[in-house]
Amino acid sequence: MRQAGRYMAEYRELRARHTLLEICRHPELAVEVTLQPVNRLEIDAAILFSDLLLPLEPMGIPFTFAKGEGPVIHEPVRSAADVDRVRQFEARDALPHVLTTIRILRRELEGRVPLIGFAGAPFTLASYAIEGGASRSYARTKALMYGEPTAWHLLCDKFAAAIADYLVAQVEAGAQAVQVFDSWIGALGPADYREFALPHTRRILDAAASTGVPVLHFGTGTATLLEAMAEAGGDVIGVDWRIPLDEAWERIGDDRAIQGNLDPTLLLGPIDRLLEGASDVLRRAGNRPGHIFNLGHGILPETPVDKVEMLAHMAHRL
Ligand code: CP3
Repeated sequence: MRQAGRYMAEYRELRARHTLLEICRHPELAVEVTLQPVNRLEIDAAILFSDLLLPLEPMGIPFTFAKGEGPVIHEPVRSAADVDRVRQFEARDALPHVLTTIRILRRELEGRVPLIGFAGAPFTLASYAIEGGASRSYARTKALMYGEPTAWHLLCDKFAAAIADYLVAQVEAGAQAVQVFDSWIGALGPADYREFALPHTRRILDAAASTGVPVLHFGTGTATLLEAMAEAGGDVIGVDWRIPLDEAWERIGDDRAIQGNLDPTLLLGPIDRLLEGASDVLRRAGNRPGHIFNLGHGILPETPVDKVEMLAHMAHRL
């Protein structure tokens, strides 16, 4: 959950000299950043440093990260004609640096902790491509989804095909688990999820599962979607803090593992409240096998790094 990033001085130091995309595109930099949290925190896995949006560029949807504003897509996908122009890509040709980063990381990690690869789910990727950046209402995304369902499904088909292969390529390069981020899927209700997102996400999760590595399936705001998300697939379902962990697990089913779900803003508050929150998550997991303790979403840039160090340590102790 953005375990590498701006809350760490060593990351900010590197970012002062390189843009985010430069770091993503240069394996030696991406390797260094991936290892920063592994070297500092008691964490049980490394997550590849990259970004969800990297596949957009080779698909003909270029973007940049604007200072303080997040991603900006230069020519958003707004019509059926725009969807027709979206290209497929072959990860081994278009994003070889990501695969190189994975190969080097496996060497550098020397089995200390496993390495997680990742990619975005079609709904979340489509929402960036269509909105042109972050959104509150997903109005344009839903306008295309409801108004031009054929174009919507074609766009998601293109993402699903490309991303499925991208995840397989990451596993071939050495990723020992993969996570599919459907970060903004909570914008949909269960019926729309089943109609407009599930079949496409399933295709990606099936392809990832065929490699044999564990597959994590994450979203936020998903309290009403958990059964359907589990149906779509994933050995592990990642949940945010808006639903108590035990309740979420019941909905997901005890044949699946669960990842979560401490509110990351607790890291900004007093220590007793943070520890109480962590204890509550662990109590709700009830010592059942198959719980991965994690935050419910990304660490915020203003988070004091010593709190994160302490949380990782305390989670193990508890
Ligand atoms: O967790 C990790 O350590 C791995 C690195 C990672 C990044 N992005 C680096 C990054 C991962 C797993 C991602 C995934 C990602 N990217 C998601 C899904 C996960 C989630 O948070 O739900 C999404 C939605 C994106 C798209 C994205 N990238 C946005 C919206 C932003 C801007 C937000 C912000 O906080 O400014 C980014 C930038 C980004 N990607 C940063 C990092 C560390 C912040 C970067 C910086 O400017 O240095």
